[in-house]
Amino acid sequence: MPGNIIEVKDLRKTYPGNVEAVRGVSFHVKEGQFYGFLGPNGAGKTTTMNMLVNLVKRTSGEIIIDGQHLDQHARDIYAKIGFAMQEIGLDETATAREMLQLHGRLYHLPKERIEEQITKLLKLVELEKVADRYTSTYSGGMRRRFDLALSLIHEPKVLFLDEPTQGLDPHARQLIWNHLRDLNEKGMTIFLTTHFMDEAEALCDHIAIMDKGQIVTQGSVEELVTKHQAKNLEDVFLKTTGSNLGDEEVNLKAADPYARSRM
Ligand SMILES: Nc1ncnc2c1ncn2[C@@H]1O[C@H](COP(=O)(O)OP(=O)(O)O)[C@@H](O)[C@H]1O
Ligand SMILES: [Mg+2]
Repeated sequence: MPGNIIEVKDLRKTYPGNVEAVRGVSFHVKEGQFYGFLGPNGAGKTTTMNMLVNLVKRTSGEIIIDGQHLDQHARDIYAKIGFAMQEIGLDETATAREMLQLHGRLYHLPKERIEEQITKLLKLVELEKVADRYTSTYSGGMRRRFDLALSLIHEPKVLFLDEPTQGLDPHARQLIWNHLRDLNEKGMTIFLTTHFMDEAEALCDHIAIMDKGQIVTQGSVEELVTKHQAKNLEDVFLKTTGSNLGDEEVNLKAADPYARSRM
């Protein structure tokens, strides 16, 4: 029986102005699991994930990763986790290769190891040809793929991804899905957030649906469908959040040039 690699107890975040973004969330992720946080915009997914990787200071609650408390063992934990987040800007004056090298050095990898990893990762995300361009010239899809490569430089045990395929065209999306499946099959624990039902369904073996700062239900897709006497995951989502992602797709269509071809 695999143990829990992430344990979260009664996690809360209140932002200044009394915004209760996360209101008492508890869950655990088993080693090797592909765990998905699904929820509408504003549910608190990003805030939860940012607390797990220590980018946002929590108001209260407990976070244990690989048996270690985040407060006492942040450094050890950083070495074991990788993350690609929604709102981290890229350095506009560096090439992809330079940024990968820098990240490798931050993790104290030997020089040869860094170069090996860079070759492997650029191939993985199909960015070999543009590796020596400034990342500021990248399209949205290229940036997402590059973010993923960066997060993998030190071969983390646990990978955190915030909406990894948002804004991607169908080809890039499929590419990322395939890589994530592959990494997970090789043993990496993956924790991702998404507001795409099909993404959660395609990738995750355990799904927690979050709404208004709380987990409203969780389980495998089959368990959720049975538990809520629902037709499918979308139906579970509707029943538990009262939210219809249809509204969001309309906004997405306006904002995202690729959205049309995705529908
Ligand atoms: N830095 C912040 N300051 C104040 N409120 C925030 C901040 N970041 C997020 N929020 C609010 O917290 C809630 C949850 O946001 P977020 O975690 O980004 O949700 P999600 O990722 O599910 O869309 C939202 O109401 C959002 O407006
Ligand atoms: Mg978010």
